[in-house]
Formats: sequence, structure tokens, C-alpha cells
Amino acid sequence: MKIFQKLDDFLDFGWAQIYRGKADKQSPARYPTFATSSGDGFPNARTLVMRRSDRKNNQIEFHTDTASSKMLDLKKNPRAGIHIWLPKVQLQIQMNVVVEIKVGDITIPYWNNVPTNSRVTYGTIPSPGTVIESSNAYDHSPDQKRFAVLVCHIEIIQLLLLGVKHIRANYKKTNNWQGEWLSP
Ligand SMILES: Cc1cc2nc3c(=O)[nH]c(=O)nc-3n(C[C@H](O)[C@H](O)[C@H](O)COP(=O)(O)O)c2cc1C
Repeated sequence: MKIFQKLDDFLDFGWAQIYRGKADKQSPARYPTFATSSGDGFPNARTLVMRRSDRKNNQIEFHTDTASSKMLDLKKNPRAGIHIWLPKVQLQIQMNVVVEIKVGDITIPYWNNVPTNSRVTYGTIPSPGTVIESSNAYDHSPDQKRFAVLVCHIEIIQLLLLGVKHIRANYKKTNNWQGEWLSP
């Protein structure tokens, strides 16, 4: 088990795991849970593929369909939560983020990088979440206009490492990521 005496070293370890999400398709960091607040007060949590992470600019990026319910949630409230559990290293990562939504022509360069067979995810008819007559009663109609890039600006990162003695720390952008230890 890793021992961390310094807050900075613990945060470096957390970011190294986040970066694995892009580099390693087997890493659970590739499939974070992304939670939004719905109008009815219930949180909405779902799995998304992490497309990019950038420590320098405090960003995590996801792609989605503009017609999905998370878009409605985010338009009402751009604050979202990200959760990752990495069983091999026994680390939980939680993030508070503010989501910037990119749609329209600005997404064309991103769209051009989406492999053709992956584009079917963006443009399902009827819209994701619509009630349908049978399990297959929908069509794929890949459409760049239905493609959204969610740039998540990280405000808080919280890490919990399980061990003989658990360790937990919270890092805030407003505190320049200095961090503070928390009782687990
Ligand atoms: C492993 C996995 C990866 C997924 N990746 C994405 C993704 O990158 N983008 C996306 O919009 N939905 C993705 N989904 C589907 C979402 O979990 C969700 O069902 C869909 O986006 C509709 O969400 P919403 O109706 O809550 O907005 C993924 C699902 C799984 C199981």
C-alpha cells in the first residue's frame, strides 16, 4: 500500500490515475460516473467515457448527445459531480465541476476526430430516454448537430485511499490546489 506524507504527492498520484483513463482502455478511470441535478431534485448519475483530461487547465472532457437528459439538467444547473473508483489501487476520486457545453460549429474539429462507427451514439431517433414500442424500435442517424462536448472545469478534487489506515484529502482550485487532510 502506498503511504503519502505530503498532500502534493497524494494529488500527483490522483492525477496519474486520472490520466490512465485516457491512456489505458482497461482503467476504470476511463469510465467515470457523471452526476447531474435533475429538476425533480433526484440526482442523475450515468457512466461516460472520459475523452480528455488536462491537469494544467483543470479540465476533464466528455462527449454526449445534445438530446440526452443530462443536457437539460446542465442547462438548468451546470454544476456536476464526477466519481471514479480504482479497485487495483484502492482509490476513490470525487470531483466537483462546472460544465461548459460546446455545441454547433465549434464542435466540428472534435467531430472529425470521432471514429465513424462511434458517431452512431450521437443522433439516435427518437431521442435517448424516449419510450419506444420494442427494444429495437429506434434508428441511428449520426449527426454533428446532435454532438456536444462537455468541458468540465474542476473546482474540487477529493481523494480517499483505502489501506490499513485510510487517508483522505480535499483540494480546491480556490486554494490553488494546496489541499487539506480530512478524517476518512
Ligand atoms: C461503458 C459506458 C460508456 C458510456 N459512454 C458514454 C459517453 O461517452 N457519452 C454518452 O453520452 N453516453 C455514454 N454512455 C451512456 C450513458 O451512460 C447514458 O445512458 C446516456 O448518455 C443517456 O444519459 P442521460 O439520459 O442520463 O443523459 C455510456 C454507457 C456505458 C455503460
